[in-house]
Amino acid sequence: MAEELSIFMKEYKEVLESELSAVIERLDAPETLKKSMNYSLQAGGKRIRPVLLFAALASLGKDPKLGLEAAAALEMIHTYSLIHDDLPSMDDDDLRRGQPTNHKVFGEAAAILAGDALLTYAFQVIVQSPHYSSEQKVTLVEWLAQAAGPEGMVGGQMSDMEGEGKELTLEELEYIHKNKTGRLLTYGVMAGALLAGANEEQLAHFKNYAFHVGIAFQIQDDILDVEGSEEKIGKRIGSDTAKEKSTYPALLTMEGAKEALNKHADAALTALQYTKADPALLSALVELIVTRDR
Ligand code: IPE
Ligand code: IPE
Ligand code: MG
Ligand code: MG
Ligand code: MG
Repeated sequence: MAEELSIFMKEYKEVLESELSAVIERLDAPETLKKSMNYSLQAGGKRIRPVLLFAALASLGKDPKLGLEAAAALEMIHTYSLIHDDLPSMDDDDLRRGQPTNHKVFGEAAAILAGDALLTYAFQVIVQSPHYSSEQKVTLVEWLAQAAGPEGMVGGQMSDMEGEGKELTLEELEYIHKNKTGRLLTYGVMAGALLAGANEEQLAHFKNYAFHVGIAFQIQDDILDVEGSEEKIGKRIGSDTAKEKSTYPALLTMEGAKEALNKHADAALTALQYTKADPALLSALVELIVTRDR
């Protein structure tokens, strides 16, 4: 199973990365802007969100390539969120994906603009896709805006910033993790399921699977900030402690965080059964997310 996933991931990471190169290449925009966008896009992310999108399509017996533009758009928005997350006024980090952060290389103004450009261009890429019906485009754009915007990732980031130096309740922390991280992962799963023609009932189960996967993903991110290796994760460890962030290990102890991680992983696997999709790739992804060291 793990082997099937690693073959799948290798293949679709390549498919995604060549699409990302092509969409930047064809942009009629200032070279520095393109360079700054491309620098972060091609810095070597794990591509978990696009892989979830492709795997959801495969789980319903569809060609994963049907999700290409939606996956590229999702990875662009995720990358923008990282560029802005690393800015001095936010998490103030200098290492990302094993490279100096965008603002360290291009300066703050270009980093902000590269983020803005990746965010807006993502929607353009979906709308200009030759592969989706108008109806599919409207839903893909609506869901992506909700997942990325004030009711999703940006809202979660705001609460994350406001939570610095405070002890939050588990409920408040779950809200942050669900939104700042979970919503973009959920978009991957839901866009894949939508494009595969899943029915309403299946969509609800995919959403539940993704909710738990999203929280588990951020719990493991919090854990790696404490016990990960800087070289493997490609970011500075101890960044959350330095900023007095509310994290699962800080609130529940490391042992409690790991318990919560396993609880969410189990809940994701249960929800997956109800989708009646082929669980091979999506269950191996849960395993990968909770055991990852990067
Ligand atoms: C990092 O996401 C930010 C979070 C939401 C935890 P990833 O761990 O997916 O980062 P990349 O894309 O692999 O660099
Ligand atoms: C997720 O949280 C941030 C985003 C939504 C971009 P973190 O701030 O923990 O992500 P890392 O650890 O910097 O990748
Ligand atoms: Mg952050
Ligand atoms: Mg950060
Ligand atoms: Mg983190």
